[in-house]
Parts: sequence; structure tokens; C-alpha cells
Amino acid sequence: MAKARTRTLFRCRECGGSTLQWAGQCPDCGSWNSLEESVETVPVTSAGRAAGYAGGATELRSLSEVSRSTGERTGTGMAEVDRVLGGGLVAGSVVLIGGDPGIGKSTLLLQVLAAVRDRLSAIYVAGEESLQQISLRADRLGLPDIPLMLLAETSVERVLEVAAQQRPQVMVIDSVQTMHTEALQSAPGAVAQVRESTARLVRYAKQTGTAVLLVGHVTKEGNIAGPRVLEHMVDTVLYFENDATSRFRIVRAAKNRFGAVNELGVFAMTDTGLREVSNPSAIFLSRHEAQVPGSVITCVREGSRPLLLELQALVDESHLSNPRRVTLGLDSNRLAMLLAVLHRHGGIATFGQDVFVNAVGGMRVGETAADLPVLLAVLSSFRDRPVSRDTVVFGEVGLAGEIRPVPGGEERLREAAKHGFARAVVPRANAPRAGRVRGIEVVAVQHLAEALDSV
Ligand code: TYD
Ligand code: MG
Repeated sequence: MAKARTRTLFRCRECGGSTLQWAGQCPDCGSWNSLEESVETVPVTSAGRAAGYAGGATELRSLSEVSRSTGERTGTGMAEVDRVLGGGLVAGSVVLIGGDPGIGKSTLLLQVLAAVRDRLSAIYVAGEESLQQISLRADRLGLPDIPLMLLAETSVERVLEVAAQQRPQVMVIDSVQTMHTEALQSAPGAVAQVRESTARLVRYAKQTGTAVLLVGHVTKEGNIAGPRVLEHMVDTVLYFENDATSRFRIVRAAKNRFGAVNELGVFAMTDTGLREVSNPSAIFLSRHEAQVPGSVITCVREGSRPLLLELQALVDESHLSNPRRVTLGLDSNRLAMLLAVLHRHGGIATFGQDVFVNAVGGMRVGETAADLPVLLAVLSSFRDRPVSRDTVVFGEVGLAGEIRPVPGGEERLREAAKHGFARAVVPRANAPRAGRVRGIEVVAVQHLAEALDSV
């Protein structure tokens, strides 16, 4: 080993930044109370560190002579997993899977390993659970005899030693927060430990072409616990999005060097593990017998596929001096803006009202296509008049009250038609040329007033 010295510094739990002196606020990311003491070993020469990634080759190369091929990609055979990964597991890539405890991270990974068992050799490193627990889970999943090697170990050096002997094609680390490296003196779980352990695993993956799947815990704020730097170090970040109380599990690609971001995989947790949901539109539409006020169906696009989704609003007289604007699964600033547009350009004031808006099924919507349906749901609840259940609505609302087009209009219309919707209220620029998509009547609107008239 190269010569090294140790130093004491303070590292931020959130961003991984360091300072020499303790402070209440991290100078890098500005979070409060996130600095913790850390004793780290630094190599005396800094050159040794950088060499790892490029496999030692540090001479200049021109772009055109670098080979284009990425590592080999292996389809897992689980369509929803392949979708979020961008087509399958890439050799030499590092995937970080985050989510609340108990949401199904370990279950999903065990199922993935089982699905690729004939094509890829695998090691499952268990830092949290005992090997018995994993074997019990495999029984429960109906996979009692998959040829999988288990390793109960939390030292990265040991893990890499075993991996170097076994040469697996896939390695699962469950979880990265339990890993520690002997190079650092700080306690396991400290940011510096998690970061350095991850760095070593990433280096190993790149050098040997092993696909490494890391499980990461999520904090209350929804970040992968501690270092957000982990996200920069890995190739792909997948998050389990909704909470564990719902039966459905949504896995979203938040970052992907080998595929599209925002792709969703939808699963249902059953007695025998995660089952793929191939028609997710069906689960985000709640089935009311009668039409209820405050509910509007929209079509959002998540990654490459359109999804029908119910948005619900409740508008109620407020007894607070500062009425509440609460959103679940949507941006609350956006709601405040929409209510202002509704007042200024629709003449409808909600000052004395509490407004609650919810996206059904634990979905998180980041798309502006939900603007118009949110407004119509608010209005429907305010007026206590239901919007017809066979109508689907999408469109962005501008500050001047104009209804702006959204990408993928026809695709959304086709999805709605496929699910039996008879009418669609859409931005004019999204209306198909012929005025009709098979089986759905399209009402094209250009301004908020027209949209309010249409329903
Ligand atoms: P797990 O994969 O252990 O979660 P994580 O690794 O993200 O902490 O999943 C735990 C939950 O899933 C647990 O509460 C039990 C439930 N579960 C089922 O409902 N069915 C199953 O077949 C399995 C294996 C787990
Ligand atoms: Mg687990």
C-alpha cells in the first residue's frame, strides 16, 4: 500500500462536502447540523487515486478512436425492471436502488437475480440480514434452489477479495450503508465510510465489468441517506417512489447513464413477491360507482409511456386566516400559481377556501400536463358539480390563462381511447389534425375560459 497519513475533518452528511472546522451549516450545500467528525486516510500522492477509473491508462485519446460499445447488456426478463434500467443490466455498471425500509428493495433484487440465473453468475452480499432470512425470503418467493452465492460481510475489502476470487457477473450489496472500509477510522454508516466504500465498489465494477447493484436507504426527506454524492458516483439511480402502505410499488429511474430517466416500473407486492403490472393505467383510476365532484382523470407521461391518473381536489371553507394549500404528489407552488390564474383569468376566487389536491395511488406528478385537470378538479369541488367520468383532461396552463400544448398529445389520446374514455379536453395544438382519434371526441381549447365552459 502507498504511503498514507490520517487527518481529521468534518464531513457533511447530505452532500459529502468537507471543512476543516466544525460549523453549524455546511458551507457547500447549506444544510444545517449535517457536519460530522471524520478521520480519513489520505494517500500522500494524489495520482494513485485517479488512475483507478481509467484502468491505469491516462494518455490522451481522441474521441473518434474511443470504442462506442458500452458493456454488454443483459435483459433481466422482467419487463418492468428492464424498462427502468433502459433495456437490461449493463456489464460494469453500478445501479443504486433507494427506497423506504420494507418497500421491497431486497425482494426485487432477489427476484432479478433469480430471473438472470441462467445467464449471469451472482453474489449477494448481505450486510443487514442473516443468510437464513435471505433463504427464507427465497422460499417465500418460490425460488428455493437458485444457484446464488451468499456472503454475510460488511467489510468492503473482504467483499472485494471474495469477488476477485469468484468473479461474479452481478454483485448485489444490501445495503451500502452497512459497508465499511478499513482505510477509514470513522464509524460504519458515517458518510465518509459509505462514500469511500461506494467508491471502491464502483472502481471494482469498472475494472472488472461486473454489474453492481447497491441498495441504499432513504432518509425522511427522501434522499438516499447521507451522501447525495452517491448519486454522482453511480451510473443509474432507481427509487421506490410511493410508501409501503400501498400495495403497488413504483420504481422510477432518477438518473440513468444507459437509458432514459423518469421511466417507471410498476409492481404489485403479493404474498409471493413483486408481480409486474403491465397495464398501470388501470390502477391509478379509482373506480367510483357514481360521479363525484372534485375528481378529474388526466393522462400524464412518465418516461416513455402514457399513464391515466385520477386527480382529486377538495375545496372547503377555511377558518384560518391563511387558508391551506395542500398537495399530495404534486408541486404546491404550482397549485398556488394555478389558483391565481383561476382568479385572474377565470374570475373564480378561492381566497377563503382550503384547497387540497391529491394524485391517486401514491403517484408523484412532475408534469405540467396536470395543470388543467388540477384546475378543473378544484373548480368541480368548489362548485360541487362533477366532471363526467368519461372525460380525460390534460394541458399546461400559462400565466396569461392560455392553455399550452404538452409533448406526446396523440399518444395520450390513444391511451385514453384504449381505456374507454369518450371525450378529451386538450390544448388546441395537441388536437389531432382530423379532429378525432379512434373512438374519442376531442375538445380543443386555447384559453382557460373555453376549458371551463367545456366541462
Ligand atoms: P424487503 O424486500 O425486505 O424490503 P427492503 O429490503 O426494501 O427493506 O420487503 C419487505 C416487505 O415486503 C415486508 O414487509 C414483507 C413484504 N413481502 C411481501 O409482502 N411478500 C413477499 O413475498 C416478500 C418477500 C415480502
Ligand atoms: Mg432489505
